[in-house]
Amino acid sequence: MLKSTIIWDENQTPISTYFNDVYFNTEGAIDETRYVFIEGNDLYQRFLQHEQETFIVGETGFGSGLSFLILWQTFLHFRDQHPNHLLKKIKFFSVEKFPLSSDELKQIHHNVLTKDKDLQNLASQLQTNFSEIQSSYQFDNVSLSIFYDDVSDFPDFLRKQNILINAWFFDGFSPAKNPDMWSESLFKKCYTLTAHKGTFATFTAAGFVRRNLLNAGFNVFKHKGFGIKREMLIGNKTE
Ligand SMILES: C[S@@+](CC[C@H](N)C(=O)[O-])C[C@H]1O[C@@H](n2cnc3c(N)ncnc32)[C@H](O)[C@@H]1O
Repeated sequence: MLKSTIIWDENQTPISTYFNDVYFNTEGAIDETRYVFIEGNDLYQRFLQHEQETFIVGETGFGSGLSFLILWQTFLHFRDQHPNHLLKKIKFFSVEKFPLSSDELKQIHHNVLTKDKDLQNLASQLQTNFSEIQSSYQFDNVSLSIFYDDVSDFPDFLRKQNILINAWFFDGFSPAKNPDMWSESLFKKCYTLTAHKGTFATFTAAGFVRRNLLNAGFNVFKHKGFGIKREMLIGNKTE
């Protein structure tokens, strides 16, 4: 496991020196994450329609855990609105080959979550427990498992847990700079591990990513991207 090295640009946006790419744009990061991954997977509606006790999310690229925090917040809101709903638990599985230190994680949360008290509260629970060698966390009805290794071994790790993913967050660095996170062989394995009616969402609409997802078996749709971004991809399992 290699440690990540980040630098900060003038907007306090974290940049990976390994990949020369941003984790996300600090300005608008919360709204973009919600738009791409939560709305892209239509999660609130899917929670409402879910007929099991547990909903399972898989992510490629844990980074600072921002997507995890926003999913957790969305789920708490859902539970608040629907206390008697059958769906009571979230399991979140992610992979990270270049973990951030706990100080870097805190710094990113500090920079990004300035206006959202609820997210700050969830982030402080994650920060209190976070260590780059600890892989499992339990926060009431929300569990987090991070596989600290290369993404190519993530599907095997999931298979051993005997679970199927209801929604994927595909969130590597930009495909041109981080192709391992967007390969056809990875998506084929992800497809096999996707539950009936399972979905995915990703910020990119790169041509080779779209083709790799299609070749893996997913239905793939272009969707309006966040803000000024033209397109992103969403999709689902065809069977
Ligand atoms: C865009 S960032 C993810 C941001 C993250 N979802 C968040 O909420 O902060 C992409 C992540 O993928 C990780 N990554 C890149 N290549 C990888 C690989 N081959 N295996 C596992 N993780 C990888 C990077 O270290 C980085 O944390």
